[in-house]
Amino acid sequence: MAESRRNRSRSVAGAFLDDLVSGQIAAWQAERGIDDFTVTDLGGGTGTFAITLAQQGHQVTVIDPSLDALASLQRRTTERRLSDRLRGVQGDASELVGLIGADSTDVMVCHRTLEVIDDPTTALAAMAEVVRPGGVLSVVVPLRRAVVLSQALQGHIDAALEALDDPTRFDPDDVAALIGRAGFTVQDISGVGTLASHVPQAVLEEQPRLADQLYELESRICRDHAFRAIAPWAHIFARR
Ligand SMILES: C[S@@+](CC[C@H](N)C(=O)[O-])C[C@H]1O[C@@H](n2cnc3c(N)ncnc32)[C@H](O)[C@@H]1O
Repeated sequence: MAESRRNRSRSVAGAFLDDLVSGQIAAWQAERGIDDFTVTDLGGGTGTFAITLAQQGHQVTVIDPSLDALASLQRRTTERRLSDRLRGVQGDASELVGLIGADSTDVMVCHRTLEVIDDPTTALAAMAEVVRPGGVLSVVVPLRRAVVLSQALQGHIDAALEALDDPTRFDPDDVAALIGRAGFTVQDISGVGTLASHVPQAVLEEQPRLADQLYELESRICRDHAFRAIAPWAHIFARR
């Protein structure tokens, strides 16, 4: 595990998130006893996580309104010879059900996108409609307290006050409740980048052992309520 982390060009927080979600999906797959499954990545952009899942052998559809992002996804897909498993479709959250149909996917991914969607409640309801019963949802959202804290620590008190009411940032328990009301059962809430986001990448590149230790630290604190509350990101894993 440590070796694979050193070989990646991903940040510690990025590697931690990839491993967390891949592990949860693998555990869900083993429990269901299924050989393969379909994935829909809403707001998947250039394919950061979609490529990882396609490389694991799964059928992945990325839905994103940005033609630029989809062009980049197409290039990366071709370079990695994943065209038989990974496709991009132009569209946004409001078109989700029309684009892929009800009960059409096993795994729904929505990472770092709920905050840019005008109506997260309606978007989550659409996600619940397209995920087959027994399927799962993986959501990553930016958290409010981390921004309030960092702005205040820099002396930007106006910005800290504004961030307190920023509707594009979430509280982990609130977003879990939103996901629950859409028809999912939340199984896990983890902080992402809680400490890793504060350690400069250059320091980690100079001393690879620190990256391994930081990864272990992230893993051990990700579900601690106090640490999780001040993480920059939360990951929520839920079952339909
Ligand atoms: C910050 S990027 C996240 C990309 C990717 N999920 C990741 O984690 O790296 C947000 C993505 O959401 C897409 N997006 C913006 N508005 C959207 C909408 N209404 N429905 C779906 N996707 C949207 C953007 O084009 C962009 O690719």
